[in-house]
Formats: sequence, C-alpha cells, structure tokens
Amino acid sequence: MKGNFSYNNPTKLYFGEESLKYLRDELKNYGPTVMLTYGGGSIKKNGIYDAVCEILRAEGKRVVELSGVMPNPTYEKVLEGCQCVRDNNVDLILAVGGGSTIDYAKGVSASAYCEEDAWQKYWVEQGNPECKTVPIGAILTMVGTGSEMNGGSVITNRKAGFKLGKVFGPALYPRFAVLNPRYTMTVPQYQMVAGFFDIMSHLMEQYFAGTADCTTDYINEGLMRSLIHSTRIAAKNPQDYEARANIMWTATWALNTLLKCGKGGDWEVHQIGHAIGLVTDATHGMTLASVSLPYYRHVMHDGLHQFVRFAKNVWGVRPEGKSDEQVATEGLKCLEQWMHEIGVVTHSRELGVTEQNIEAVADAVLILPVGYRTLTRPEVVEILRESM
Ligand code: NZQ
Ligand code: ZN
Repeated sequence: MKGNFSYNNPTKLYFGEESLKYLRDELKNYGPTVMLTYGGGSIKKNGIYDAVCEILRAEGKRVVELSGVMPNPTYEKVLEGCQCVRDNNVDLILAVGGGSTIDYAKGVSASAYCEEDAWQKYWVEQGNPECKTVPIGAILTMVGTGSEMNGGSVITNRKAGFKLGKVFGPALYPRFAVLNPRYTMTVPQYQMVAGFFDIMSHLMEQYFAGTADCTTDYINEGLMRSLIHSTRIAAKNPQDYEARANIMWTATWALNTLLKCGKGGDWEVHQIGHAIGLVTDATHGMTLASVSLPYYRHVMHDGLHQFVRFAKNVWGVRPEGKSDEQVATEGLKCLEQWMHEIGVVTHSRELGVTEQNIEAVADAVLILPVGYRTLTRPEVVEILRESM
C-alpha cells in the first residue's frame, strides 16, 4: 500500500426492509421546512411517496415539493431548485430517488446560496462551496451510482456542452440514507441492469490503476465477485430479495471513497460515457457498458499485470500454460460474457451514437491524465468507433 490518505464518511446508513422507520428520528435533527425532491413520479406509483409523506406529516414538517428531476439532471433544473430553497428557507433537502435525484440535491444544496456562477465554480473549476449549504437526506430507490454515500454530483449543462461531475466534500454527502432493497423492486429491467453495470464500472475504474500490492484491491475483488454472483441471480429473477440486497450494499461500497484509499483511479470510461450521455441522453450505466470493452482492450497492454490479476482473482481464469496476454484477454472475455448474461447494451449505436455525431461525442470527452494510459483524441475516436 502506498501514498497518504484520509478516510471519513459521515453518511449514516439505515439498511433493510424496516429502514424507513428511522426517518422519523432523523427528521428531528432539522428545522421545520423540508424540500421533498424526486423524479418523474415512479415514487407515486409504488407507494414510497405516500410512506414518506406520512412520516413528514407525523413529524409536523412543512413540505415544499420539487419534482420532475430528470435522469441526467440539468443545470437549469438545479437553478429552479435553488430558487425554491431560497424562497422557502429550506432546512433539509430530502431526495427520494436514484442517483439523478440525489446528485441533484447536492447541486442545489451547494448552489442555492452561491454568489458566483455555480456551474463555473463547482463543475468547471472544481471549487468548493464557501457559502451556506443545506443538509441532505436520501431515500434510495434505484441502485448503481453510490450517490447515497458520497459527494458526487453529475450535472448536464447543454448550453455549455458538457456533462460534468463534481465530487463535493463530506459536508455535502447525504447526512443519512435509507436503503430498503424492496424499494428497488419496481425499477424496470433495463434501468436495473444498467445500474448493475454502473456498479461494476465503479469497481473497475478504481481497480485499473496503480502497481502496488494494495489491500484496497483485495476488497475491490471481493465486491466484484459478490456483484457478479448476485447480478446473475437478479437479472433472471429481479424479485430475489437476497440478491437485490447484496447488490444494493455492494453499490454503496463501490463508490463511497473506500476503494480509492491508497489508489489512483482511472475514470476514463466514465468520461466517455458522460459524453455519450450528453449527446444522446442515454442511460448512464448503458453508456459505460457500450464503451468498456473497447476501452479496456485498448489499454490492456499498458496495465497488463492488473488485467492478469483481474482475470485470475475475479473471474477464476487458470493461468497455466498461457501467456499474460492470453490470461488478460480471457478475463475480458469473461467480462463480456457476464455483460451478455445480465443483458446490457454492448454497442453505442444502440444508444444513438452515429457517424454524424461521433465527433461531437469525442469533443465532449474529458481526457484524464491518470490510469494506465492517457488517451489522445484520435484514440478516443478509435474507441468510440469500435464501440459502435
Ligand atoms: O424519475 P423517476 O420517475 O423516479 O424514474 C427513474 C428514472 O426514470 C427510475 N426509477 C428510479 N427508482 C425507481 C424507478 N422506477 C421505478 N421504480 C423505482 N424504484 O429510474 C430511472 C433512472 O433513475 P436515475 O436516478 O437517473 O438513475 P441512476 O441512479 O442510474 O442515476 C444516474 C445519474 O447519476 C449520475 C449519472 O451520470 C446520472 O446522471 N452518476 C452519479 C454518480 C455519483 N453521484 O457519484 C456517479 C455515477 O458514475 C454517475 O455518473
Ligand atoms: Zn457511474
């Protein structure tokens, strides 16, 4: 293990079928006005909205609602939330939904009282809030992003032509998060498996970096193996509680900063995925699935030792009588096979990437100077073309 790091995660988690009942205790810690924020209405259909509102009422809260948070939330929508926070002097933002709603809540919290251009300050310049921020609570309904226990806030600004992530500090992590696997049972299959791949991608983005023998990699491998096992079950039988619960727990640990301790990280798949999302508005996890195989084949030789380790420790590939390259290639084949089994998209053309917009996608890709290889723009185009 190399490097220096600190680890501090202030989010309090409540996990399991009984977890919502603890919302009542949590609400006592905040002032009277709660901004209840959610997406396009799935929580009204599956009863989560009613259950949450009953608790808010029982605690005597004044509730203002901000609904309609779209997948891939926009900066325009963030500004609408900021106005609502200021107009109502909101004491707590309660985000009920998936990563989009929780990311959105963080964006609003940091931006509502920001006196500068918040987009420029946070998402472009990666600055930190110096103004008052509003506490956030989360009730998770869709698994994948890890937003329930991290500071990530990914926002799309179509005018600026970017979908950018900002990782805020612990003050903007949800103060508490309710994780009830039952709440995820109504997520449509397409979204569900997209979330599964998102988790795998978070694990791989952090795994494929560095050369040191690092405890964090062993933790990561355990999470990958649990994820592969449970997603095979859940893709066939989404109502399998045990599998869905394991996946929910894995998703949270996959991106709550634990797995970057002592590690760098790659994150280029996410940069390409975000660019595809910007241009096509495709589902986040599917954008990652569509480019991962071509990307990893492209960088495999630069980080061969880790791809060999991945093949052996995650997929159980036997190395005897094979070259490192053969072992690593077999590992990626196993990854591909699992992707087919769970049913994610493996071609970006299925998401709307075409010969006409491929340059626009490439223009929106941020090239990060980390991971095993720093791409050039022509390499980005090459990977995108292979992904089609
Ligand atoms: O809007 P509603 O009606 O709620 O429907 C949502 C949405 O259409 C639906 N859904 C959620 N829970 C449901 C449900 N439908 C039925 N039953 C339920 N229980 O699912 C759809 C997708 O929801 P969304 O929140 O967009 O999905 P996800 O959790 O994948 O979030 C994606 C966003 O998170 C960002 C992505 O870029 C994307 O913008 N990310 C955030 C990260 C972070 N905070 O660290 C990291 C990730 O890499 C990612 O970039
Ligand atoms: Zn992701």
